[in-house]
Amino acid sequence: APAPVITIDGPTASGKGTIAQKVAQALGWHVLDSGALYRLTALAVLREGGDGADEAQAARLARSLDIRFEPDAILMGGEDVSALIRQEEVGNLASRVAAWPAVREALLACQRAFRQAPGLVGDGRDMGTVVFPDAPLKIFLDADVEVRAQRRYKQLKDKGFSANLDDLLQDLRARDARDRGRAHAPLVAAADAVTVDSSHQGIDDVVRQVLDLWSARG
Ligand code: C5P
Repeated sequence: APAPVITIDGPTASGKGTIAQKVAQALGWHVLDSGALYRLTALAVLREGGDGADEAQAARLARSLDIRFEPDAILMGGEDVSALIRQEEVGNLASRVAAWPAVREALLACQRAFRQAPGLVGDGRDMGTVVFPDAPLKIFLDADVEVRAQRRYKQLKDKGFSANLDDLLQDLRARDARDRGRAHAPLVAAADAVTVDSSHQGIDDVVRQVLDLWSARG
């Protein structure tokens, strides 16, 4: 049988990444930050002077990504780009290139290769619907957009980036609309996903909830 997967999908800044890491750590499993692949593609597009409007260019760059995930870094062509790809500019462009079917197709095999024993926690938008439709546990992690903007604001400030709360709120709304509204692999809860709302609970409470759901599967 293939290794088990827990999928965690949800909108931008819902806490998916942190929760996926903590759940993976608790179980001793691998983790896939699928958004990073779209961000890396976006960065590659930016560096070629593109704006994401050219599907063929974005797909070519997605296919030829030379990346390595390390515990504390993401390397592209040997360069640590982990801080760069977190910038809002890159995130916004990522959601544009992610709308192209050829880009999504190009990244599919790479994502599925992360599924290895003893298990995988994958976070993104379409982990439960498209990439790992047979995952035995699917979480849809939601949170109010204002709460998510606040969290993203704090995250950016903590990392020393400048940020404006109103701009972030607008960006999040635009990104959510684009991710939910696109024709291919839109952000939507899988029919068999458990929806968890993190607006009014801390990271550790959500992590415990996910772990409880996993052990309750029996
Ligand atoms: O999760 P993160 O903010 O890093 O993702 C960046 C963008 O990549 C998202 O806004 C979304 O458009 C895209 N994405 C996607 N499918 C995934 C993960 C991310 O379309 N599985």
